[in-house]
Amino acid sequence: MMKLNRINFIKKTSVTAAGASIFSILPSELWKPPVAPSDKINIALIGCKNQVFWDLKCHLDYNDATCVALCDVDSNILNDRAEQIKTNYKVNPRLYNDFRKMLEQKDIDAVIIGTPDHWHCLQLIYACQAGKDVYVEKPMANSIAECNIMVKASNYYKRIVQVGQQQRSGYVFQESMKMIKDGSIGKLRKVNVWGNFNYGTGSIPAADSPVPEGVDYDMWLGPAPLRPFNINRFHGSWRHFWDYGGGLMSDWGVHLIDMGLWAKDLIEAPSQVLTYAANSSTGKRVRDTFDTMTVVYPKKDYVINWDMTAGVQQGPYEKLYGMAFIGEKATIVTDRNSYQVYPEWDDKKKAGKTEAKSFKEGKESHAQHARNFLDCIKSRKSPVCTPEIGRVAALHAHIQNISARTNEQLLNWDDTNSRFTNSEKANALITPEYRAPWSLPNF
Ligand SMILES: NC(=O)c1ccc[n+]([C@@H]2O[C@H](COP(=O)([O-])OP(=O)(O)OC[C@H]3O[C@@H](n4cnc5c(N)ncnc54)[C@H](O)[C@@H]3O)[C@@H](O)[C@H]2O)c1
Repeated sequence: MMKLNRINFIKKTSVTAAGASIFSILPSELWKPPVAPSDKINIALIGCKNQVFWDLKCHLDYNDATCVALCDVDSNILNDRAEQIKTNYKVNPRLYNDFRKMLEQKDIDAVIIGTPDHWHCLQLIYACQAGKDVYVEKPMANSIAECNIMVKASNYYKRIVQVGQQQRSGYVFQESMKMIKDGSIGKLRKVNVWGNFNYGTGSIPAADSPVPEGVDYDMWLGPAPLRPFNINRFHGSWRHFWDYGGGLMSDWGVHLIDMGLWAKDLIEAPSQVLTYAANSSTGKRVRDTFDTMTVVYPKKDYVINWDMTAGVQQGPYEKLYGMAFIGEKATIVTDRNSYQVYPEWDDKKKAGKTEAKSFKEGKESHAQHARNFLDCIKSRKSPVCTPEIGRVAALHAHIQNISARTNEQLLNWDDTNSRFTNSEKANALITPEYRAPWSLPNF
């Protein structure tokens, strides 16, 4: 019955959308189709603090989505977020500290996973098993083995899984991809990708301390090793420690390198990476991850280069992060809000080899990414960032983090057998060891 309602709903909305363009001078608010509560997509959120609360809001700003549950192991955050949802969206989600209990709630259609990276795999698998569709934040997981399992589980349970690489839904990237693929910049030879941010150097050292009131620390750690509580390994700054994240390399690398892969529609793990990694900043900071990395990914007919200097807020083309797609006729330089096309000069014609263009966007890609997820929940079509795409992007960060950690500058990866062919030290870091009672799902 529920499903039938939803199919009718899709038909209703597509008719309204077509009609809306004719009367587009009317305020868009008037054209928001009324959605019966039974036709709304019921969303639950796991991990409510920062970015992902924003992701949830992006979904709820569409009137065919509503929030029915929130889960966080920090009750302070949970209660605060619940109040915000109540005030802004006039709904009263049920609140949980344990996501497993939350997943028993029958009316949940989709779950957004916004916890630290070391939780993504288990929470996605539990959600898929419970029959929920999933929006999982990037990087898809904190290890190669977990990414592999997540792809298999998403397909096995036939769930719609969108990975939170929202740049795939971003206007400037979609336009850049069109120009690359229609030949406007000629043969694409190289993609230079860089990300320099202050925060990548880590946090100011702090002593271990008691667990803050209202926090279930054991459930925050989950499958990660047991350690005394330290504020630097908690909210936000966990990303500098291998147990939970992969540093700036996986934080931004996944988003940005994904664009270099999309440029040639590559959904393939790297077969070889050449990595230089160092800790070259001088401030007193704590972290496991590296603050300086240069990585070369040779592809069949082009090359992707990643360059990262944490602690520096400058970069090529005056961008602290960005990409340069270098073609024979022109280079496209882009970040999340803009692109510029720099044509090569044709000496014979005394003209540029292509048109110089530039564009500055005001739109936010998260909202489009959320819309795509909601649409795919209804249509059961593949979203723009599938688990396969998420996995490959994550492997383009994990493999060179492993290379840096093992000091093996050149690693060869056999994706069919999920092994490095030239380093047993590197093979030892493919699969994380889960802390009991958690165990890595068997797929
Ligand atoms: N797509 C993007 O642009 C983007 C931007 C920022 C962060 N992210 C991703 O979002 C995720 C979260 O990052 P963040 O910076 O918001 O982290 P954060 O530490 O600020 O927030 C994580 C939240 O998860 C909660 N949590 C931890 N374990 C939990 C559990 N077992 N059950 C329920 N809640 C739990 C924490 O209490 C906290 O409220 C990461 O994977 C990160 O890479 C994506």
